[in-house]
Amino acid sequence: MALKDRVLAVLEANKGKTVSGTKISNTVGVTRGAVWKAVNSLRSEGYSISAVTNRGYCLEESNDLISEQAIRPYLKTKALGKKLDVYREIDSTNSFTKEAAHYGAVHGTTVIAEIQTGGKGRLGRKFYSPLGMGVYMSVIIRPKLSIDSSLLVTSCAAVAVAQAIERVAPELECQIKWVNDIYINGRKVCGILTEASIDVEQGGLEYAVIGIGINVQNSSFPEELANTATSIKMEIHHNVSRNMLAAEVLNCLEEQLEHIDDSEFMKEYVRRSNVIGKKITVTQGDDLFTADCFGIDSKGRLLVRCENGEEKAVGSGTIRFA
Ligand code: BTN
Repeated sequence: MALKDRVLAVLEANKGKTVSGTKISNTVGVTRGAVWKAVNSLRSEGYSISAVTNRGYCLEESNDLISEQAIRPYLKTKALGKKLDVYREIDSTNSFTKEAAHYGAVHGTTVIAEIQTGGKGRLGRKFYSPLGMGVYMSVIIRPKLSIDSSLLVTSCAAVAVAQAIERVAPELECQIKWVNDIYINGRKVCGILTEASIDVEQGGLEYAVIGIGINVQNSSFPEELANTATSIKMEIHHNVSRNMLAAEVLNCLEEQLEHIDDSEFMKEYVRRSNVIGKKITVTQGDDLFTADCFGIDSKGRLLVRCENGEEKAVGSGTIRFA
């Protein structure tokens, strides 16, 4: 680990408190001069670190830059996030992580970026990913799963993210809009894009990259999203730690993935659904129809009743509230 990262780990562990230069230099095993240089280098990256003469350095409580050092103390996982890389800028954490998975990156590898210049949404859409506002992360999973069960990975992730948001902001109630959007008070706060590689010979999943984008500190959105998007801060009117949130996503995701075979999380998925009981418009390729949604089955498909009375299970496509 680079010296500045070791210094950051000490400061993160004492966030909001002043730590003497001597204590830091003893902990990381370098001179006080080297600590001073590392602190300056962290400041140039955007960390607000105050220096108090004869007392030491203090990482300001308000500091919200995402770092491995700040995430680790909250992480309780066995595998997810054990390999964790945080970047300032990436085009898309999913594209980046998919390539890593292709070259053999292990189960649990997690990549997070402060900004995505080409954040991807479902169906070729873009995902708005401005600097310092969200948690944009991708996680590689390599579970032994049939192609059928693989389809449930996204539903499992949706439940995990809803739980994670409520852990950092207990006053909120998250709902899930089929198939993978997290909503708060009728607005989208998070999107999930799962991209998978199938092992054709074994007839199962080789790996999946679960991409999660959560709007956290945004106080506004561009015009095209202004009526439909929200952020955690816009809902609770104060900041939450993006580092804690990223860790909780991994904690909850690992807990939920343990149930991928028995689909236990589907009960919670159904309970959190904001679609059941609503009239919706379903788009599947060129096909578009209006129907009443009356349930979600154990495979994660929407159960709908069309206007002609026909009942269908919808496993792909997009929906709008009619
Ligand atoms: C959607 O709303 O349609 C899905 C959005 C998924 C966004 C996340 S942000 C992290 C990861 N990297 C991407 O490029 N996309 C996903």
